[in-house]
Amino acid sequence: MLTRIMKPTSSGVEAAAGLLRKGEVVAIPTETVYGLAASALLPEAVAKIFAAKGRPQDNPLIVHIGSPEDLELYAAEVPEAAPMLAKAFWPGPLTMVLRKKPVIPDVVTAGMETVGLRLPAHPAALAVIRKAGVPLAAPSANTSGRPSTTTASHVAEDLAGKIPLILNGGPCGVGLESTVVSLTGDRPRLLRPGGISLPELEAVLGPVDCDPAVFRSLGEGERPSAPGQKYRHYAPRARVVPVKGADGTAISRIQAECEAAAGQGLRPAVLCFDGEQGHFPGAVCLSYGVAAQPQSLAAKLFDSMRRFDALPADVIFVRLPPSGGMADSVINRIMKAAEHQAIDAGE
Ligand code: TXA
Ligand code: MG
Repeated sequence: MLTRIMKPTSSGVEAAAGLLRKGEVVAIPTETVYGLAASALLPEAVAKIFAAKGRPQDNPLIVHIGSPEDLELYAAEVPEAAPMLAKAFWPGPLTMVLRKKPVIPDVVTAGMETVGLRLPAHPAALAVIRKAGVPLAAPSANTSGRPSTTTASHVAEDLAGKIPLILNGGPCGVGLESTVVSLTGDRPRLLRPGGISLPELEAVLGPVDCDPAVFRSLGEGERPSAPGQKYRHYAPRARVVPVKGADGTAISRIQAECEAAAGQGLRPAVLCFDGEQGHFPGAVCLSYGVAAQPQSLAAKLFDSMRRFDALPADVIFVRLPPSGGMADSVINRIMKAAEHQAIDAGE
């Protein structure tokens, strides 16, 4: 299949909407990451998403809507918290999990009785949803297991030849996926940290429970509330080794780990903060932003992970920012890429 790449001009949006109405899949930009969209109301179209990504069938998709009022169309119950969150964070990087109405097909929710709903902020995403006139099921537009895509060329790397159209809206601003919060229990529950931080959520909702899968890998028999959280994710081909600790100790520890890796015949790489490259002359080194500005790290994380795939690297040591706020979303993605194994260099 020939994959066209178009800008989200009116003809690009029209082309995307036309394909979506016909039951095709299209990659679209959102403010978080690129999404691989299909009409959420057409099961055969949704099945094409799973096929193009190689996505496990038990992992439900987020449904993207074009207006907050659409909540009522797809959610069987709209608890008080939902409009509060919509008012605070929509359009934007927040997904609410609610009980679903039967109009949402089972293939979208992997048979679950709930559906994740999100109103994205990217103008091209909104234009496509509104023009198509249907809600769009859209996971991140990457091959399953690989880092999510934040540019149209990332999408082409993974999906060229498999989908008819990629809308190129430039690099995604947030760079990490939406925050997923479930409103189906007695208390709101964070299933995946993302573009909205936990303190921001709690400022609106009061205390929010955190699913254990947010912080650690689950044991035998434990199930995450967001099925996607059980898979290794976001990973470049090389092994990822996060290193936490104060600047000086973490840098020295990474230097020692690089030497040790090289001694074993492995090619070491480092993902560090801006201005630190000079500390790692023996390693392939990229920087991903400023530790004190976690938004800057989020914006470059997936692009950096993908760049390492083109570089001679067998093991990537990654500097972790201090936890808190948006940094926790960045740390979550890195820890998942590393299957929750990290080095603690100390303070
Ligand atoms: O920012 C985003 O959310 C992007 C853009 C394209 O909107 N989408 C995205 O989708 O990240 P995906 O499929 O890569 O991740 C969706 C996550 C998965 O971990 C999935 O298990 C969880 O949300 N999820 C979706 N529906 C759910 C539901 N009904 N209950 C629990 N978890 C759900
Ligand atoms: Mg994904």
